[in-house]
Amino acid sequence: MSESALIQQAREIRQRLAINSELLRKKGLIIEDGESRHKYEIYLSAGSPINVRKIYSAHNRREIKEADLYVHLPFCAYKCFFCCYYSIVGQPKVAVDKYINTVKKELDLLIKTFPLKNIAITSIYFGGGTPTYLADDQINELIGFLRSKLHILPDGNFTCETSPDTMVGSIGKERLKALFENKVNRLSMGAQTFNDIKLKLINRCYNSQTVISAYKNALQAGFSNINIDLMFGLPDQTLEQWEYDLGMITELKPGWTQLYHLTIQSPRMHKMFTEEHNRFPSEEDIILMRIMAIEELKKHGYRVERAPDLFALPSKSEDTPPFYREKLGLGPSAWSSLNGLWHSNYPELKRYTALIEKGRLPISFATKYSKRHIMEREAIYKLRSSQLSRSSFKAEFGVDIEKAFGKILRKLSSAGLINDDGDSIALTYAGIIFASEALKQFFHLDYYEKLKKKILNNKTLKKFYLAQKDNKLVIGFSYLLRKLLGRLSL
Ligand SMILES: C[S@@+](CC[C@H](N)C(=O)[O-])C[C@H]1O[C@@H](n2cnc3c(N)ncnc32)[C@H](O)[C@@H]1O
Ligand code: SF4
Repeated sequence: MSESALIQQAREIRQRLAINSELLRKKGLIIEDGESRHKYEIYLSAGSPINVRKIYSAHNRREIKEADLYVHLPFCAYKCFFCCYYSIVGQPKVAVDKYINTVKKELDLLIKTFPLKNIAITSIYFGGGTPTYLADDQINELIGFLRSKLHILPDGNFTCETSPDTMVGSIGKERLKALFENKVNRLSMGAQTFNDIKLKLINRCYNSQTVISAYKNALQAGFSNINIDLMFGLPDQTLEQWEYDLGMITELKPGWTQLYHLTIQSPRMHKMFTEEHNRFPSEEDIILMRIMAIEELKKHGYRVERAPDLFALPSKSEDTPPFYREKLGLGPSAWSSLNGLWHSNYPELKRYTALIEKGRLPISFATKYSKRHIMEREAIYKLRSSQLSRSSFKAEFGVDIEKAFGKILRKLSSAGLINDDGDSIALTYAGIIFASEALKQFFHLDYYEKLKKKILNNKTLKKFYLAQKDNKLVIGFSYLLRKLLGRLSL
């Protein structure tokens, strides 16, 4: 059977790109084995750790005018085999009620510690887990409480993550109505794939028809700003299946689509990856999948909103806020960034709840970034959304970007990953395909390399790390970080 026009086009583009990890290494980039399986991550623990008790006393010294609000809702109806997020499965309604009460107490505690009332909340994000595991009355209760305690601006973005199965049937429709009436104006729905066999394989408890019905129900409820998540790199996934999934997106035409490259982090996927490695698309097929997505979505009016994998219709496109924008996070694992200090809550519900019940903030660690850390992360943010410019960087930090990152920029340019002439610096087509590798260069030296040294200097970690490499596992640093190192201070 001959290949489709899209797959052939992707193969031609791939051939012209003529870039691979080996070549990038030769050009001086630091590339770890299996790197492309890992999107770059902005490690919170990169700064200098500070005493948790000092966070809010330090904050009190300066006035914050605006902040974004994040609320973590860790409940799910099922555990997807690939999922790397903290979530609790199959909890009864009373458990969710109890959780909402705990979040309310957390906010009350914060308000006692810090003058949050005076801060204008510019946007809200409900993430999870699956925030729409909440019933309609629980949604009303939670949002009503937040509005009663915080100064929430009327026209800001209010996004809620959701799964298709929670948006169908009469209960799903009631839930959508409650969200819309509470001024949620953007939904982010995890479809993952429209292939029914694959949905079963990854333990998503619905079929493709549910995704379509859920999307239609959301439109009917009044939502006009919807994101759909798709995953690529799934076991047994072929280029043809990926083309079908992309086709479903262009048919439904949501304002956004976030494409997630499967990262091997859950124990289940880890086991499968070790024992049945061949079932996973090769690194080359992953590159083809990325090219197919860019080409197919471009044909239907989408553009890369944030490299490598967030696409939007131009009418939905938004400016990227600065990395250091103030953010208030509630719930287990939520992190906040206030007044130049970053802090994160304990990720486990039990510990989080126990601390709040004792009248203590559930903060597990806090850190202060140096100016260098902030500049690195800001450069990454702006590069991802094609908004990095020499003049605005200078205006923002009072530092010439050449002085801060000249060497890195030259390497990226010589590897063909960025266009760096004149004022604006942007990822090239190859730079978008290899965005993870490109972006990581900004903090490899000060963090990644130090981390590697720490691992290799520690007997147990070294053994584990080398075993991973020998097995040709591509679990890499982010897994090590999460599972073994916790909050390693560097
Ligand atoms: C919090 S979930 C979205 C909402 C909802 N819980 C759902 O799954 O439909 C965010 C997204 O993360 C992605 N995701 C989760 N684990 C992943 C992994 N190991 N690799 C890549 N993407 C992952 C999925 O695409 C998922 O839709
Ligand atoms: S992907 Fe979504 S639904 Fe699945 S376990 Fe993770 S948070 Fe829950």
